[in-house]
Amino acid sequence: MSTNADAQKRQAAEQALAFVEEGSIVGVGTGSTVAHFIRGLGTMRDRIEGVVSSSEQSTALLAQLGIPVFDLNAVGPLALYVDGADECDPHKCLIKGGGAALTREKIIAAASKRFVCIIDAGKQVPVLGRFPLPVEVIPMARSHVARELALRGGQPAWREGVVTDNGNWILDVHNLHINDPVKMETDINQIVGVVSVGLFARRAADIVIVGDRVLP
Ligand code: 5RP
Repeated sequence: MSTNADAQKRQAAEQALAFVEEGSIVGVGTGSTVAHFIRGLGTMRDRIEGVVSSSEQSTALLAQLGIPVFDLNAVGPLALYVDGADECDPHKCLIKGGGAALTREKIIAAASKRFVCIIDAGKQVPVLGRFPLPVEVIPMARSHVARELALRGGQPAWREGVVTDNGNWILDVHNLHINDPVKMETDINQIVGVVSVGLFARRAADIVIVGDRVLP
């Protein structure tokens, strides 16, 4: 990653802090961009009640900073979810899951009123699919799901050695040109054995921040 990309991630994370409401519980994603956001939350931890975390990785950083972490079931809908992405198209549809946290990220995004996505400019694409699409699968269904994804024109590769926080495996699907992300998300969700797909199109981002720019 270039220093410039990391500087843009940090800038985007700083901008996202302005969306945090006093006394609220904030949903937080996973990854290097969100790590900047979490460190920012650490500087204002007396002004929030706490967070809901999307991964063990983020929870560990939150614990280091003394930020209370709540179970989503205990807090109900959230006002704000902040997360990074691997790709973002002009409609604010995303590919996520490079850090294997897509399922919990998707759950928190679905349970949040506003989803603010923070990225560097290298994540912007005209059409999703250059980044291999992560799909979380039940381990015994890996080969079946891979065959189904190949029938849809993708080239699935097993992310060997990676076990998600939910005890599942990841297939990364190469060579997709995702012209209709809502349709593809709906279709892949129907494959038996798929836990979730890293397309965030049915619930896209509401606001995208690229470096210091909030996209219109
Ligand atoms: C984790 C994700 C991340 O948001 C995505 O991989 C971007 O990561 P980074 O901020 O490190 O570039 O989806 O599952």
